[in-house]
Amino acid sequence: MMLNMKLKVIIFLSKIIFLEKIILFILRRNQIYSKTLRAYFKKVRNIEVGTFSYGCFTKDIPNGTIIGNYCSFADGIKIFNGNHGIDWATTHPFLYNTTLGLVEKETINRYKLVVGHDVWIGGNVIILPSVTKIGNGAIIGAGSVVTKNVEPYSIVAGNPATHKRFRFEREYIDILEEKKVYNLTKAEFIKNMDKMYDINLFHKINN
Ligand SMILES: CC(C)(COP(=O)(O)OP(=O)(O)OC[C@H]1O[C@@H](n2cnc3c(N)ncnc32)[C@H](O)[C@@H]1OP(=O)(O)O)[C@@H](O)C(=O)NCCC(=O)NCCS
Repeated sequence: MMLNMKLKVIIFLSKIIFLEKIILFILRRNQIYSKTLRAYFKKVRNIEVGTFSYGCFTKDIPNGTIIGNYCSFADGIKIFNGNHGIDWATTHPFLYNTTLGLVEKETINRYKLVVGHDVWIGGNVIILPSVTKIGNGAIIGAGSVVTKNVEPYSIVAGNPATHKRFRFEREYIDILEEKKVYNLTKAEFIKNMDKMYDINLFHKINN
């Protein structure tokens, strides 16, 4: 009897979860533009996703993450926001996880990652809890394990991810930061597209 009841509850819940999956699947098809998907992630997961960013509406982005505009997240990205108790007698979650019933308040630190604007994160990247800031315009190579904050407009890659180079010389980074391409509306973006392919025309971008 008990088992029957339990099974019914599980099936009921899984149906709701299944429904959620369907709804998210539908919303994700328009993820570059969907305001509803952004509002859902903010309300239910406390994750902020900026305009035109995509690939970040997954279960592998922890609550509290902030993601800027125009970001591209490839498949398989995992962001971790906490470590088990490294210095305790056991690393088991019994010592910190409230849902397991032995502690009333979570006893580990949770970190919040802020991803800037126009950040491109390659496939299967892992971002560890020690990372709290990825700067505007940064690129993270595929398969990297990121252990430190990433400087704006830098390319990092590898395990552990190391600085490979900056995307542009300082003067062009300054121009891009002044122009703030990542704040352009789609109409403004379209108007300026021809100036975006050539570094010598960046200074002519306007909104
Ligand atoms: C990082 C990346 C953008 C290339 O940047 P780049 O500046 O053109 O890099 P290069 O190919 O000139 O390589 C520069 C150095 O970084 C290394 N490198 C490049 N990508 C790397 C990666 N993902 N992991 C480890 N090392 C990498 C190269 O071996 C090279 O090392 P070396 O200087 O010792 O020879 C690219 O390699 C990458 O990872 N792209 C992501 C693709 C992806 O995930 N797409 C998903 C769909 S959106």
